[in-house]
Amino acid sequence: MPKKTIADIDVRDKAVLIRVDFNVPLDGQTITDDLRIRMAIPTIQSVLDRGGRAILMSHLGRPEGKGPEPEFSLKPVAARLAELLGRSVTFATDTVGPDAQVKVQSLANGGVLLLENVRFNAGEDEKALKKKTGQANDPAYFNALAPFGDVYCNDAFGTCHRAENASMFNVPKAMTGKPKVMGFLVEKEVKYLEEAIANPARPFVAILGGKKVSDKIGVIQNLLPKCDQILIGGAMAYTFALAKGLKIGKSYAKSEDVPLAQKLLAEGAAKIVLPIDNNAFDNFVWDSYSADPSRTKVFPFGELADTFEGLDIGPGTIQRYVGIVKSAKTVIWNGPMGAFELPPFDAGTRAVAQAIADSAAISIIGGGDSAAAIEQMGFADKVTHLSTGGGASLELLEGKKFETLAILDDKS
Ligand code: 3PG
Repeated sequence: MPKKTIADIDVRDKAVLIRVDFNVPLDGQTITDDLRIRMAIPTIQSVLDRGGRAILMSHLGRPEGKGPEPEFSLKPVAARLAELLGRSVTFATDTVGPDAQVKVQSLANGGVLLLENVRFNAGEDEKALKKKTGQANDPAYFNALAPFGDVYCNDAFGTCHRAENASMFNVPKAMTGKPKVMGFLVEKEVKYLEEAIANPARPFVAILGGKKVSDKIGVIQNLLPKCDQILIGGAMAYTFALAKGLKIGKSYAKSEDVPLAQKLLAEGAAKIVLPIDNNAFDNFVWDSYSADPSRTKVFPFGELADTFEGLDIGPGTIQRYVGIVKSAKTVIWNGPMGAFELPPFDAGTRAVAQAIADSAAISIIGGGDSAAAIEQMGFADKVTHLSTGGGASLELLEGKKFETLAILDDKS
């Protein structure tokens, strides 16, 4: 059953308690990637434009509920949010303490209030609370947050897999009789990562990379019956090479994942596409790496010399994968094709990103490294959907359902 969104609620004169995911990368006080803040703007703006007020709660990092820690403060986020909204944002120096209480009470319609990091409170992470104290949750905490809103709105896609976070589950649960809806970002993420995949325009091609097969096993298993081809890249490909008894030189592989890779190859031989060549580096050491053409060599897949480490898909594979992307109608990509931080081993990731950007297919980029790569390469606005979720987007791609969304109101 589809869920109500913020568009279904008359928010005039209402306080909307919005859970956002402003867990953004910071270099000191500087936000190095504000995608998650930008993607939350439509929901906030819609509340303000329609005469409501927005009370925002988020986590940043993983402080362990021991009170305020300056390095995890959301204060720099409040400043960036004000710039993006083009209006002032009030910041509360606590989440449910006296400052928040006063600022919630005095917030006028059209106003925005950002509460301090929810994870400064021991009651926010209920898994950690249980481990430490044996207490399942902290009603004093979630019952203090719940009255802040007349409406609850979940727009924190990146945190949707964390039902143990009180602001994601027990807070809305405690808002008995009040509307509980999703924001536009969550609506969009679910539309692409769940619905578009369930009913794809074909050919439907998945491109999966990254280091470990075990990290993507659930995704591969869920996508195998749905998609037409799964292209494998990244270090994960070397585990598949081992599974076929091939030579990988010094390439990264997880021998314990070999049986898993063998099982997947047996189940999905017709759909799983492995590289045909790799670009590799002789005696590679990450910390002291500097580009050196005399030590860089392309090998056929599974024929790497003993001292070489595969760091990217090779030119033949690039050509093949780009051709497959060109003829696809739906493309989903999760995980880089190689060590894209270290040129020339960015070539595979870059070529795949370019092919997706050039394609007219519905293109969905899973969060984490592939989203970062596509942003760095300047293609973010050329894809249909760039997910803001890391763990959350993987779980949706694995076909999991989120309790944090199940508790929201159904569209009648
Ligand atoms: C993320 O960055 O994946 C989300 O913000 C969730 O953060 P967490 O893994 O610390 O819960």
